[in-house]
Amino acid sequence: MTNLVLVGFMGTGKTTVGAALAASLGMKHTDLDDAIVESEGRSIPEIFTAQGEAYFRDVETKRLAQLLAEGSQVVTTGGGAVLRKQNVEMMMEHGIVIALHATEEELIKRLENDTGRPLLAGGVATRVKTLMAERAGVYDFAPIQVDTTGKSLSDIVLEITTQVV
Ligand code: S3P
Repeated sequence: MTNLVLVGFMGTGKTTVGAALAASLGMKHTDLDDAIVESEGRSIPEIFTAQGEAYFRDVETKRLAQLLAEGSQVVTTGGGAVLRKQNVEMMMEHGIVIALHATEEELIKRLENDTGRPLLAGGVATRVKTLMAERAGVYDFAPIQVDTTGKSLSDIVLEITTQVV
């Protein structure tokens, strides 16, 4: 079976939905950020601080390619993984891509106490608004689009499974 690839802005629930989706379909689930942390042996904030975002993006592309090549798994990605055209092409070639969405208000609420996302440092609400504006439309390439706002996890999983099987 092909991969199922979840994309979407930070806080849209990719990891939670991906785990539940994989369980429901009897598939393996791998989170790209977790795979990066594992192979780098340090946290994402530590990678950003020590080597910067460009280095993180290089590792992200490399690990994404490896996970997609393994096949037959649900791969959940970081919100910025779609910023490279090369990554989008790989996702489209080796998987069915599902984009998760939530309103700006909902995302700010979900992320307001977050400390593990370097791109939100300096004020979650301001950073979410700025990044959402900068990234407008970047998830539109995905053939399956799901709005998660106000929906239960089981409803979201059902909405996806009915479109991929
Ligand atoms: C990022 C999102 C994060 C993580 C990193 C950068 C982004 O993943 O990859 O902090 O650029 O949007 P989540 O979307 O899982 O928070």
